Amino acid sequence: MAEPQSSADALLQSVKKPESFAAGLEGVVAARSKLCQIDGNLGKLYYAGYPIEELAEGSTYEECAFLLWHGRLPRHEELESLKAELRNKRTLPQQVVDFIAMMPHTAHPMDALRTVASLLATFDQNPERSPEANLHRAVALTAQFPTIVATFHRLRQNQKPVEPHPKLGHAANFLYMLFGSEPDEATTKVMDVAMVLHLDHEMNASTFGSLVVASTLSDLYSAVSAGVGALKGPLHGGANEEVLKMLLEIGDPKNVEAYVDEALAKKVKITGFGHRVYKSYDPRARILKEYARRLSEKTKFSRFFKVNEKLEKVMVERKGKQGIFPNVDLYSGIIYHQMGIATDLFTPIFAIARVAGWTAHVLEYWQENRLFRPNSIYDGPAPRKFLPITQR
Ligand code: ACO
Repeated sequence: MAEPQSSADALLQSVKKPESFAAGLEGVVAARSKLCQIDGNLGKLYYAGYPIEELAEGSTYEECAFLLWHGRLPRHEELESLKAELRNKRTLPQQVVDFIAMMPHTAHPMDALRTVASLLATFDQNPERSPEANLHRAVALTAQFPTIVATFHRLRQNQKPVEPHPKLGHAANFLYMLFGSEPDEATTKVMDVAMVLHLDHEMNASTFGSLVVASTLSDLYSAVSAGVGALKGPLHGGANEEVLKMLLEIGDPKNVEAYVDEALAKKVKITGFGHRVYKSYDPRARILKEYARRLSEKTKFSRFFKVNEKLEKVMVERKGKQGIFPNVDLYSGIIYHQMGIATDLFTPIFAIARVAGWTAHVLEYWQENRLFRPNSIYDGPAPRKFLPITQR
């Protein structure tokens, strides 16, 4: 190392210089957490130690949200109290509804959701920033997300928004506000399972985005707005919308091989496959696949399911040895499509579920907060003299 010429040089030399970097932060551990664990090689997912398969089968969205916010499953009265708080906080301020009504009907619902999540901050006049106050904010945001999406959707169709139902659970109430009628038990269970599966997923891009914002000691609204923004992209939550477009384009199982081979030859990634962490089957995809199979049997949607299944078979044959398998987004789209839900609401449904995960991670991170501030390797020109514009 050269001798420092000045105190500024000495300071520069004392700064630890990164020698290499991990593109996309692959393999970098960014935080400690007790909330969610993934074994990417075995295709296992746990929320606070509970296997996702058991939670999907026997739990509910509300119970899993409690689990992530508190690190343990609720007792009966605790769950009832959370459900009541969620029900009580579903209604949006009238000014927010008026604001949504002014949004262009052609806007993407994820843009509407991100904007309104941010807008809600201006209606929160409580200066209290304690963990307890923030937990209540987390519950309120989780309660309000479905109302925002359903309200935007109804208004863009020139329909009157449906007031939240005073009795229905989280999943059923969302479908009620969307369609204006109470869903049956089977449909409610499928939506609830989808929400449980999408609730959390360790240090995914949108959770990390939320944490980066939260680590500056900004507020929960800013953090979840960042989460929505990050989730929107087609490499992340936006993939479920893209999958349905792809299925429509393929149209028939007999077209699958040609579609896949052409895409792979052009080095185009097939949406609904591949994952940064899973190098085997995403367990959420397995669960959703069974629901999609049951829902589409003997209906006009069975062809969609067959296209999906063939796509899975061909992709696993072609790319399985490279660790590329179906991810959560492969089967969720046909489930929502069969429920009659508009394609551009698929990613907002993901956000409705994930907001509890984002807030749980933020609340946990704030317990031992440290500012996220990584480095980059400077790869530009060496220091050079500035020339005024007249001399360039
Ligand atoms: N189809 C074909 N090839 C793929 C796919 C895919 N879906 N995914 C990865 N690959 C290949 C890449 O071409 C690359 O091959 P190469 O090494 O021969 O060049 C290799 O696998 C590694 O790919 P990366 O893009 O570097 O992997 P990364 O970990 O960065 O990406 C990602 C993960 C973004 C999810 C990627 O698999 C992808 O784009 N999938 C499609 C989009 C998608 O379904 N996203 C949803 C993910 S789940 C979620 O976020 C909820």
